[in-house]
Amino acid sequence: MTSATSLSIAILGGGKIGEALIAGLVAGGVNPKDIHVTNRTEATGQALEERYGVVPMTDNNGAASDADVVFLCVKPKQIVGLLEEVAQTIDNNANTVVVSMAAGVTNAAMEEVLAAGSPVVRVMPNTPMLVGAGMSAVAPGRFAREEDVELVTELLEKVGEVTVIEESEMDAVVALSGSAPAYYFLFTEALIDAGVSLGLPRDVAKRFAVSSAAGAGKMLAELGEEPATLRANVSSPAGTTIAALRELEESGLRGAVYRAAEACARRNKELG
Ligand SMILES: NC(=O)c1ccc[n+]([C@@H]2O[C@H](COP(=O)([O-])OP(=O)(O)OC[C@H]3O[C@@H](n4cnc5c(N)ncnc54)[C@H](OP(=O)(O)O)[C@@H]3O)[C@@H](O)[C@H]2O)c1
Repeated sequence: MTSATSLSIAILGGGKIGEALIAGLVAGGVNPKDIHVTNRTEATGQALEERYGVVPMTDNNGAASDADVVFLCVKPKQIVGLLEEVAQTIDNNANTVVVSMAAGVTNAAMEEVLAAGSPVVRVMPNTPMLVGAGMSAVAPGRFAREEDVELVTELLEKVGEVTVIEESEMDAVVALSGSAPAYYFLFTEALIDAGVSLGLPRDVAKRFAVSSAAGAGKMLAELGEEPATLRANVSSPAGTTIAALRELEESGLRGAVYRAAEACARRNKELG
């Protein structure tokens, strides 16, 4: 297998996810000169060059030619069109692995655009990859070989954790990972407003709410305890925390989370 540090990598679409990937790959030891990134707007690519030393381009075919791995990091509705644009170039190099980071778009939809047997991998990343704490769900397509999946996993591990899943699990995983950071952002935003309502200055409320979110996240990730145990541990009889938890439960938080996850999974299916 080719080492991840000596690969030619194309990132088509240097936006939020594309940049997070670049940041992680470069921090993880990939030579920035081996990363070709494209944007339609030249200035966006130049800014990425200044920040990371990568090679900016506006020509998707130029970036994809000779690439070992081509990451598609544009919006879901643009994926198939972009793939059609570079299909001939990719078909000329049978070993190129195509990796889509887009919500919704299936492996089958991408495989249909490329020559039969082309390795395609569908990934659902999330934005904590910006700070090296991402979670990427990797669903291999029909023709992706074990070494292709290992290579994609090795690259994505530079920006966080990686879990290989069945493509049929993808809609649920988007609700639990791809979109989930936004739920925690919304909860934190609401807690800040609640603090302001209790009389705290907004910057003070923000410091406390953000610190609580980060601390709770670290405990969940590092202690190996069930969330229910961690919650019970801080719920003293007739105490302050249980009074707050009762309000959240009576307000239907649990049901809202079920419905939110279902709406997210449904929308992911529709996008495909
Ligand atoms: N953001 C998230 O939380 C998140 C989470 C999981 C998955 N994703 C997936 O990641 C993908 C990218 O999302 P994003 O949030 O990074 O979007 P974004 O910030 O809008 O980035 C997309 C980038 O693609 C470039 N682009 C558009 N058309 C192009 C083309 N034809 N050729 C080359 N570059 C092109 C755009 O730059 P120009 O306009 O200059 O071309 C833009 O910089 C989406 O498919 C999304 O489903 C996002």
